[in-house]
Amino acid sequence: MTRLGVLASGTGSILQAIVDAGLPVALVLTDRRCGAVEIAAQAGVPVEVVERTDFTKAFDRDAYTRTVVEVLKRHEIELVAMAGFGTVIPGIWDAYPDRVLNTHPALLPAFKGWHPVRDALAYGVKVTGCTVHFATPEMDAGPILAQEAVPVLADDTEQTLHERIKQVERRLYPETIRKVMQA
Ligand code: GRF
Repeated sequence: MTRLGVLASGTGSILQAIVDAGLPVALVLTDRRCGAVEIAAQAGVPVEVVERTDFTKAFDRDAYTRTVVEVLKRHEIELVAMAGFGTVIPGIWDAYPDRVLNTHPALLPAFKGWHPVRDALAYGVKVTGCTVHFATPEMDAGPILAQEAVPVLADDTEQTLHERIKQVERRLYPETIRKVMQA
């Protein structure tokens, strides 16, 4: 059985969906104290907080990434699923080539970056969605595994639209991770 590690920084609702889908999560790794830590603890999944203390330009991304990889290797993680991880760590690719998955709340290659829902609303698109893809060193790039469209409603706010996208991600991401684990 592939040992799956999930990287998260936020409320952890995508992590919760992965757990609820019955996927065997061997480790949850976060870069801060956040909802995902509580969710992992409640699910009885080992948690490691590799705390990021520096959010300035001086942040030593390579050193931070090395620590993350060390922790993943210590837990013998073979496949990594990012679920709203707030620190960009392109160097993880060297240790896990073709073994890092991501879900992004937009239809890539549209609306890359940190504010895809806000950007889609600002652009005025009528349809957006989510993308599950293999992560590569370039942010929000890499081979696409699954995509699903979500309509933008006239009275949507960033929050209501993101929540509607996440409802899809909570189904599509676990389904896709399972397929990759079985491949
Ligand atoms: C998801 O929309 C994911 O695509 C994005 O961050 C969000 C995580 O949501 N990268 P949550 O913290 O799991 O609720």
